[in-house]
Amino acid sequence: MSLLLRVNVVLVIAFALAGWAAHEVCASLQQADARRETLATAGLMLDSALASRAYTAHEIDPLLEPRMQSEFLPQSIPFYAATQTFASLRKLHPQFAYREATLNPTNPRDRATDWQADIINQFRNHPSSLQIQGERSTPMGDSLFLARPIRAQPECLACHGLASAAPATLIARYGNDNGFGWQPNEVIGAQIVSVPEADALQGARRIFSDIMAFIIVMLAVLLAIIDATMYWTVVRPLRQMTRHADEVSLGRAAEESFSSRRGDEIAALAEAFERMRKSLNKAMQMLGGSSRGA
Ligand code: HEC
Repeated sequence: MSLLLRVNVVLVIAFALAGWAAHEVCASLQQADARRETLATAGLMLDSALASRAYTAHEIDPLLEPRMQSEFLPQSIPFYAATQTFASLRKLHPQFAYREATLNPTNPRDRATDWQADIINQFRNHPSSLQIQGERSTPMGDSLFLARPIRAQPECLACHGLASAAPATLIARYGNDNGFGWQPNEVIGAQIVSVPEADALQGARRIFSDIMAFIIVMLAVLLAIIDATMYWTVVRPLRQMTRHADEVSLGRAAEESFSSRRGDEIAALAEAFERMRKSLNKAMQMLGGSSRGA
């Protein structure tokens, strides 16, 4: 196997290992970064839901109050506003889903599913926890979620306390079975944003394949540079020297010197050959002289 081929085999194996290690490290860094970014966006969405609630409570509710005497208008309810706003936002960002999941909701569409109820119960069991984030498996693939607790304040109990104390218009619209009996300061539900993991990682995958393509091109360029350097500094001078030594051994080109103007190991080898050539020439001359003398 030629020297160049041998070096190339070693380098290709080393580069493949380096490429694989870079692949693994980049993949996990990219995924962690994509998750962080998606959860940050989810946090922003939860904050924007709080903002729609505050706007509705402070600006819309007072306007609708006179009409609420005769008819219950859900548009005055901050939590309704947040859910509806998110439904519009979802048209632009269909991968994000938002729930105001509640264990005992007024509107049945807000009822917590099993996994959401687990999160709400975690908040109930750990009153100091302000946020839970995580991943869960779904039939459609893994999904990321971010959740924050919803607590009943004393003022909420006008509509969510005893059914008998709730506005008649509310009872007329929603009935008196659901969304009542909440206790002050009790965690009654959670705001939950979820995103399929595949969507969260999509952007990361694009950047990741760009980085991998860049690394592969860099390694290929590096291999070409190492090959060219090997060829010009080692392989080519060695081949020339071999050819020359062959000629000398066959008695041809005996006067042509091996000298090299370089200062490296190849030049040292050329000098050694040169000394050998001279000694050989001298020995041949002596041999020629003595054979003539005999
Ligand atoms: C004026 C009555 C009223 C008050 C006061 C009120 N709510 Fe509600 N709330 C409702 C109604 C009605 C709905 C259902 C709206 C809909 O159709 O989506 C609702 C919905 C909710 C929901 C969504 C889950 C569900 O039950 O459908 C949450 C969570 C919620 N309210 C929490 C609160 C909190 C916390 C407060 C106090 C800060 C509060 N509410 C104050 C009437 C009220």
